[in-house]
Amino acid sequence: MDFTDKRVLVTGGSRGIGFATATAFLDAGAWVAVNGRTEGSVSTAMDRLGRGDRVVAAPGDIATVVGCEAAVQTAVEAFGGLDILVNCAGIGSGRPIELFDEEMWDVHMDVNLKGTFFTCRAALLELRKSKGNIVNIGSDAGLMGVPGIVAYCASKGGVVNMTKAMALELAPDIRVNCICPGYVDTDMIRRDHIDKKPDPSKAEQGMIDYAPLKRIATPEEIAHAIMYLASHEARFVSGAALPIDGAASAGR
Ligand SMILES: NC(=O)c1ccc[n+]([C@@H]2O[C@H](COP(=O)([O-])OP(=O)(O)OC[C@H]3O[C@@H](n4cnc5c(N)ncnc54)[C@H](OP(=O)(O)O)[C@@H]3O)[C@@H](O)[C@H]2O)c1
Repeated sequence: MDFTDKRVLVTGGSRGIGFATATAFLDAGAWVAVNGRTEGSVSTAMDRLGRGDRVVAAPGDIATVVGCEAAVQTAVEAFGGLDILVNCAGIGSGRPIELFDEEMWDVHMDVNLKGTFFTCRAALLELRKSKGNIVNIGSDAGLMGVPGIVAYCASKGGVVNMTKAMALELAPDIRVNCICPGYVDTDMIRRDHIDKKPDPSKAEQGMIDYAPLKRIATPEEIAHAIMYLASHEARFVSGAALPIDGAASAGR
């Protein structure tokens, strides 16, 4: 896939799936603005990415409208426009419903759902001009219920259906699609869902067994699916929610 001189913003590009996506777009010839929560997290990512002026720091708290708009504005000012928006910033914590408080609920909705919406809104003017496209990051937990992560499921279910509504409202100018990964080997999974468990190796084995293909995905595998949806080859694909989960959601 050729992304020569395409102008890309990746929210949550400082780590994990977003970092792999920023790397893959740069390898394919794009200009990439990398967002993360803080200047510090983005500058660490920039050091790892290298590539001189092809990559630009676009920090901003995606849980806030101001942060979403700042990230988009930085990318647009640096590149003179925008062709592709990848909404990858996200959080995911699990615990039983009784222990899930208002603050945790709000932060899931603010980063995963509200942030995705307002980053899209901020990018519309430029994406209309470029006939660009948006790839949102949902989850297979947005396609089906998963116990223990109810707020995460609610936020990602919102992302999946919002993607479909946006695809209809923004056609024919802007394509909007969504990737729905299963477990992916990133900080989110290692830190929050394996290392904190009483028996981490059992928790990891549970994630491997969750997918009929019997493994955890790499961030690069998700990045390549994102690139397909963002590419010219996917020019008739819009409103899709593509599971990349080793068939975990196929029978549900
Ligand atoms: N890993 C999985 O198994 C999995 C499965 C399905 C879907 N997903 C989704 O994939 C996306 C990426 O997840 P990941 O696994 O790569 O997570 P990760 O390794 O924990 O990275 C999360 C990224 O999101 C950024 N972020 C979080 N809150 C933010 C905020 N308020 N403002 C700006 N950036 C923020 C982080 O920035 P900082 O570096 O500044 O903190 C970081 O770049 C998320 O939407 C997640 O829900 C992940």
